[in-house]
Amino acid sequence: MKERIVSGMRPTGKLHLGHYLGVIQNWVELQHKYESFFFVADWHALTTKYDKTENLKNDVIDVAIDWLASGIDPEISTIYVQSLVPEIAELNIYLGMVTPQNWVERDPTLKDMAKILRSKEGQNSQISYGLMGYPVLMSADIMMMNATHVPVGIDQVAHIEITRDIARRFNNLYKEEFFNEPKPILNHCSLICGLDGNKMGKSFQNDIKISDTEEITAKKIMTAITDRSRLRKTDLGHPDECEVAFKYWQIFGNEEQIAQIRCECEKGERGCADCKRQLGAVINERFAEIREKRRYYESHIDEVKDILNDGSKRARVEAQKVLNEVKRLVRMY
Ligand code: TRP
Repeated sequence: MKERIVSGMRPTGKLHLGHYLGVIQNWVELQHKYESFFFVADWHALTTKYDKTENLKNDVIDVAIDWLASGIDPEISTIYVQSLVPEIAELNIYLGMVTPQNWVERDPTLKDMAKILRSKEGQNSQISYGLMGYPVLMSADIMMMNATHVPVGIDQVAHIEITRDIARRFNNLYKEEFFNEPKPILNHCSLICGLDGNKMGKSFQNDIKISDTEEITAKKIMTAITDRSRLRKTDLGHPDECEVAFKYWQIFGNEEQIAQIRCECEKGERGCADCKRQLGAVINERFAEIREKRRYYESHIDEVKDILNDGSKRARVEAQKVLNEVKRLVRMY
């Protein structure tokens, strides 16, 4: 039997290249090796944005479109919406009962989220009960399919540790090795920074979206930070101190291109503007097919909705099997 992966993303709207390189690309490969479940975590979005739901529906669809365009194949993988699988909420109840409060309180990722929330909304912003339950709900997502592996970014690993702890505790309490202790699968790709050299993020306005047009991408690339010590084209450049552009080359260029850029930069034969123009073209070429598929799905939204509804139905079938076992083990009425 194939091993199973589950992973999800919160619906934060259109995804950027950080999402693509850091997570989605990995999923696209893994879907051929594992039985795969990918879902849009709309309940998790509510943990911090319960009061800003105007765009939630659209954001769910946008995330799904980016996945489909990137090559997540609904014929191979099950793609679904968390809130369309209510069994997850029911499992969340059982897992919440067996999870000690201090396990969630010491979750470092959750602490970071709380810090960000406070910095945005002021010191007296409230942390909701739902947000405290974030790692338990995430465990429910993963354990709902009794996954063996969870492909995520490094920032999510602490959550998966809690999932393993909860799975072990459940098995001990109810005296059956029912749940797998799922392991994270980290991607091997280096992290892409934003155009300003900081972490790429939607809210930092330093990102390139999968959905950006070629023109916008080219324009954004022209703003990428380069070697700050270089003022004129003829100044000798230092590719290793180039803060963004050369790093992007190392991600998107082939070996020959990278060697050529390095050589010309160091000799002062290629200016930063020229370098970034060419870089923009290379990135646009890389995403041309994905963007074309994206445009297709944008004009066939009903098809996207069908995929999400069908996937959610399939996910529920698996979820119900697990839930029945859980209720039997806990000895519910
Ligand atoms: N917490 C994840 C993130 O912010 C999203 C997520 C929710 C998830 N449930 C999950 C990821 C289950 C993997 C498995 O990116």
